[in-house]
Amino acid sequence: MNEVMKAIRARRSTRAFTDEQLTREEMDTLLEAAVWAPSGMGKQLWHFVGIRNAEKNLELARAVAEADHRGPEYNFYGAPASIIVCYKADEMHAYLDGSAAIENILLAATSLGLGSCWINQLRNVCYELPVRKLLTAYGVPEDYMVIGSVALGHIAKETPAKARREGTVTVIE
Ligand SMILES: Cc1cc2nc3c(=O)[nH]c(=O)nc-3n(C[C@H](O)[C@H](O)[C@H](O)COP(=O)(O)O)c2cc1C
Repeated sequence: MNEVMKAIRARRSTRAFTDEQLTREEMDTLLEAAVWAPSGMGKQLWHFVGIRNAEKNLELARAVAEADHRGPEYNFYGAPASIIVCYKADEMHAYLDGSAAIENILLAATSLGLGSCWINQLRNVCYELPVRKLLTAYGVPEDYMVIGSVALGHIAKETPAKARREGTVTVIE
């Protein structure tokens, strides 16, 4: 099978990670995948923050848990690393460009043998003051919103593939 198709078919949402940290090279590759995503009108008004520090990642998860009224067990599935995908607020293509970048990160992670999971909650609470303070400290520009984040690390437990819905494709010839 074609290498890209292999990664597309192998990608799963990982929800259990080991403590092993990503190498700096792995993180750099994932960020490179992000910046090479397509963007509406080529604007690229995004910003990516790679967190390759388990303590700082957990600190962010705790702030999200508090703001989103989640339990103490909320911890980005124990992932030691994350990438926060941000975009200049009020830009027409923000969610589209940001989501394209997220998918690039997920596929690149799979191709490196890493686990990944799209995390939605940071987006919901990125304007809550304690969360925003942390985001600012981690390098998110003030006028940028969060599109999503990706939990990253080594897979502790494989996720079985979800069956794909039938009847969602039409080909016209
Ligand atoms: C927009 C979006 C938001 C998501 N948010 C979360 C999330 O917050 N937590 C989570 O565990 N999975 C999240 N996911 C992952 C989906 O649950 C997952 O992709 C889906 O169940 C299919 O499983 P698969 O990724 O293993 O193929 C999200 C996926 C998308 C596209």
